Amino acid sequence: MDYKNALHNPIFSIIAKASQELNVESYVIGGFVRDYLLQRDFKKDIDIVAVGSGIDLALKVSELLPNKPKVQVFKNYGTAMLRYKEIDIEFVGARKESYAEHSRNPIVENGTLEDDQNRRDFTINALAFSLNQHNYGALVDPFNGLSDLENKIIKTPLDSDITYSDDPLRMMRAIRFATQLNFTIEAESLEAISRNKDRIKIISGERIVDELNKILSTDKPSIGFLHLYKTGLLDIILPELTALNNVEEIEGHTHKNNFYHTLEVVDNICPNTDDVWLRWAALLHDIGKAPTKRFNKKQGWTFHGHEFLGGKMVKKIFERLHMPLNHKMKFVAKMVMLSSRPIVLSEDIVTDSAVRRLVFDAGEDVDNLMTLCEADITTKNPAKFKKYHNNFDIVRRKIIEVEERDHVRNFQPPISGEEIMALFNLQPSREIGVLKEAVKEAILEGEIPNEYQAAYDFVLAKAEKMGLKKVS
Ligand code: CTP
Repeated sequence: MDYKNALHNPIFSIIAKASQELNVESYVIGGFVRDYLLQRDFKKDIDIVAVGSGIDLALKVSELLPNKPKVQVFKNYGTAMLRYKEIDIEFVGARKESYAEHSRNPIVENGTLEDDQNRRDFTINALAFSLNQHNYGALVDPFNGLSDLENKIIKTPLDSDITYSDDPLRMMRAIRFATQLNFTIEAESLEAISRNKDRIKIISGERIVDELNKILSTDKPSIGFLHLYKTGLLDIILPELTALNNVEEIEGHTHKNNFYHTLEVVDNICPNTDDVWLRWAALLHDIGKAPTKRFNKKQGWTFHGHEFLGGKMVKKIFERLHMPLNHKMKFVAKMVMLSSRPIVLSEDIVTDSAVRRLVFDAGEDVDNLMTLCEADITTKNPAKFKKYHNNFDIVRRKIIEVEERDHVRNFQPPISGEEIMALFNLQPSREIGVLKEAVKEAILEGEIPNEYQAAYDFVLAKAEKMGLKKVS
């Protein structure tokens, strides 16, 4: 059987021609082959191995292409890349690799195709299609990768300890592929991840986060997080999460296991959003609970202020993992800080002013906050589940109503500080702040509408009580 059908894109016959002219063998390898065999969407990224110089092959391919695309050469790595009709094609010479203990950078020697397949992470990623004339389209599968694909197994071609220790990022990749593809990680491989977990410390935060983001972008991230937890990786990467994995009992009072609860919330949010940052918010929404947990006889277990502390912890985590410290981080921190608000609000009668305050505090993110809070309902009690969801429906309806009327989502004071200063001939002073705050409060409380004339009248009345005189 051959896979010529997989190679219908004209680029493959051009690569084949270039290889022939240079008299080197070449193969498509890795993700393209795996995803073709799995009938997954093509991801616009093709890896080519040349048994010879990958750089020379890339240059030759470019020569044969009508528009002669620019070839990016990475001399140090012996690789080259060109772009053909939106597809990135990466060329590498077949190589043998060995790694030093403290580095991800291998010592590289030229090798055969088999050497090259040996150095790859998983059997399912070592599959190659031949681009050579004598067996064009043949599958080269020295490690039974095809049967591992069929049996849904993640397995390393060589001894797992060597594969993972050589490049510890592969531990994260194994877990990420298992989550994305819903595959099983072979038992021996899982044990090797546990044994080599500390090697993850040589991997940069950016690369770890890249894999975490891919896990968070799947339909069921809990699969990945449970693997990360059981192998001990999570305790190294995100100890704030593993700290949530306990249930204590004092005087017959227990609290829920917030680690497993968190994983449920993350899974709940996934079908509804493709926003990876909202998924981060779900993942981190309860991290303040471990450090704030207290027991007292009257209330039982409490987590006072966990949202506020959790929001602060978000920044530290983002810094530690070299994640962006921009508006994405602020968004996640804000979601964590506000994550209990809708539920508290919905437990009581839902008043307009409480909804207005929620919209004011969450601003543009109020819809995301509602999505997070609905995902947060993991009670197994059907009556409670229904009640919370009903209440959230009321909150959502009220948000729309209140917003139509009061426009507090992006609150701008209807009367400015400058105008108040001019009205009473005041310099910038505490009084201005007091008056502005009073206007905002009156609007949020529903005492006055969010309109200029109402705010103007309100300021005059309030100022008079404060002993301020309007200049005529
Ligand atoms: N590879 C590896 N070890 C790594 C990264 C990559 O052995 N740490 C090899 C695998 O053979 C992989 C190929 O390089 O298939 C290409 O890597 P990459 O583009 O990162 O991954 P893909 O397998 O193509 O899949 P994805 O794009 O989903 O990451």
